[in-house]
Amino acid sequence: MVLARLLPFLALLLLLQGPAAARASPPRALHEVATTCKAGILCPRAPIKNSSALPVNVSLYYESLCGGCRGFLVRELFPTWLMVQEILNITLVPYGNAQEQNVSGKWEFTCQHGERECLLNKVEACLLDKLEKTTAFLTIVCMEEMDDMEKNLKPCLQIYAPEVSSDTITECAMGDRGTQLMHVNAQLTDALQPPHKYVPWVVVNGKPMSEQDELLSLVCHLYQGEKPDVCQIGTRSQREVCFQ
Ligand SMILES: *[C@@H]1O[C@H](CO)[C@@H](O)[C@H](O)[C@H]1NC(C)=O
Ligand SMILES: *[C@@H]1O[C@H](CO)[C@@H](O)[C@H](O)[C@H]1NC(C)=O
Ligand SMILES: *[C@@H]1O[C@H](CO)[C@@H](O)[C@H](O)[C@H]1NC(C)=O
Ligand SMILES: *[C@@H]1O[C@H](CO)[C@@H](O)[C@H](O)[C@H]1NC(C)=O
Repeated sequence: MVLARLLPFLALLLLLQGPAAARASPPRALHEVATTCKAGILCPRAPIKNSSALPVNVSLYYESLCGGCRGFLVRELFPTWLMVQEILNITLVPYGNAQEQNVSGKWEFTCQHGERECLLNKVEACLLDKLEKTTAFLTIVCMEEMDDMEKNLKPCLQIYAPEVSSDTITECAMGDRGTQLMHVNAQLTDALQPPHKYVPWVVVNGKPMSEQDELLSLVCHLYQGEKPDVCQIGTRSQREVCFQ
């Protein structure tokens, strides 16, 4: 069973995050979240302490096969989401350092890590297009933490969105819709101010996050409402990046 294989991995992720995060959400709690989140059921949400404050906007500009992007998504964004999802508004923009070209009226893409990355970027754009926002996020994290991402589309969908067939997503990715969605992501990425210098490029409340910043602390710092309890805990990290 796929979930059984995923759980030790999730516990490992938590350990990779270091003692601070492990204290904040012990493996048991994580296990419960993962179990409750399966089959597309909405994950338990901590009560919103002050609903009048706006969530912190976190946009991730990334490409599917960049190691630093996968690391950020799986080891920083996902654990942060597990801890403070009630104060986060996450936007994923798969495209990254790709380039597009109008070839006789049709958009064609060139990706840093080759054709395979272009297809996987489209698969992820199609997941974001066809699934509910949180479900799409969890499915993408699930794929990005596995070595063979193509093979894992199906089992990851079975966990989070069993009603959606992987064929639907693959058809979208290989067809006009995938191209259309990737063109939108190209425009969003090319419109970045300041332009991105590398990926993962993380924009928090409209400003690029520096390599020294740690996402959880930054989100806690920026949130204007009453802070979730986990914000008391300090953490540090250093991230890998893929330059253009
Ligand atoms: C969340 O981010 C999206 C952009 O991706 C934006 O359209 C939406 O207004 C934001 N929601 C909130 C509550 O800030
Ligand atoms: C793409 O190229 C075709 C001709 O090759 C042209 O008619 C069309 O206007 C171009 N589209 C854009 C958005 O540049
Ligand atoms: C998040 O983005 C939305 C849409 O752009 C904007 O309306 C909102 O004010 C932003 N939130 C914050 C906290 O900046
Ligand atoms: C909730 O947040 C708003 C806006 O940041 C603030 O003005 C208000 O005092 C807060 N209310 C409580 C009960 O913390």
